[in-house]
Amino acid sequence: MVKLSPSLLSANFANLQDDLDKTKGLGIEMLHIDVMDGIFVPNISFAFKVISDIRGKNDYFFDTHLMIEEPIRYIDDFKKAGSDRITVHYEACKDLRKTLKAIKDSGMEVGLTAKPETDPKLLLEYFDLIDLILVMSVRPGFGGQKFMPETKATMTLYRKYIDENGLDIKIQVDGGIKTTNVREVLDLGVDEIVSGSDIFGKDIGGQIQAYHEIFKEYE
Ligand code: DX5
Ligand code: ZN
Repeated sequence: MVKLSPSLLSANFANLQDDLDKTKGLGIEMLHIDVMDGIFVPNISFAFKVISDIRGKNDYFFDTHLMIEEPIRYIDDFKKAGSDRITVHYEACKDLRKTLKAIKDSGMEVGLTAKPETDPKLLLEYFDLIDLILVMSVRPGFGGQKFMPETKATMTLYRKYIDENGLDIKIQVDGGIKTTNVREVLDLGVDEIVSGSDIFGKDIGGQIQAYHEIFKEYE
């Protein structure tokens, strides 16, 4: 089944564990963790302390999306904090191949993504090194933005490339996804859905159930 990765960014940090507890027992396997440095994107979120604090209480696969310059500097720190997968931006790495290899060598899964305006074909030469390709369907930096329909062409391109080459790579979509538009991207054959404001800004458990009901249509 398609997997839902609720994005922590839209949770209430004054009651973070309360919000996380509301995601439990509903078939969720992973949590999307957005780290921003105020340089690669015009926003700053959180990092190691929050991740390691929630690690002890939440038995989820930590799907960590790094919107930071030169993430290679911090791979060991994210590993120690409890990340299970690190997704880095194409534009943020001077030596992308070395960065992706360092993530793999640390024992974590490897994800790659790019801003919506970057040519998606530029990422294909790195597909030998990744477990996940993330299609950003908003400009990275903030939750609650509007889905950019032009990014659907990128999802189609990657689905075709992965299938034609028999690759074991998942496609994730992140940004502006809601229960009301998620079918648009599920129709394109994506594997993982990130959703922040549409889950944590609403009835958390009810929204998770609503997504899973929709995913069943694609089994
Ligand atoms: C945006 C982040 C997203 C964000 C998605 O830069 O990468 O993960 O939390 O939030 P929504 O689902 O509200 O667009
Ligand atoms: Zn994200």
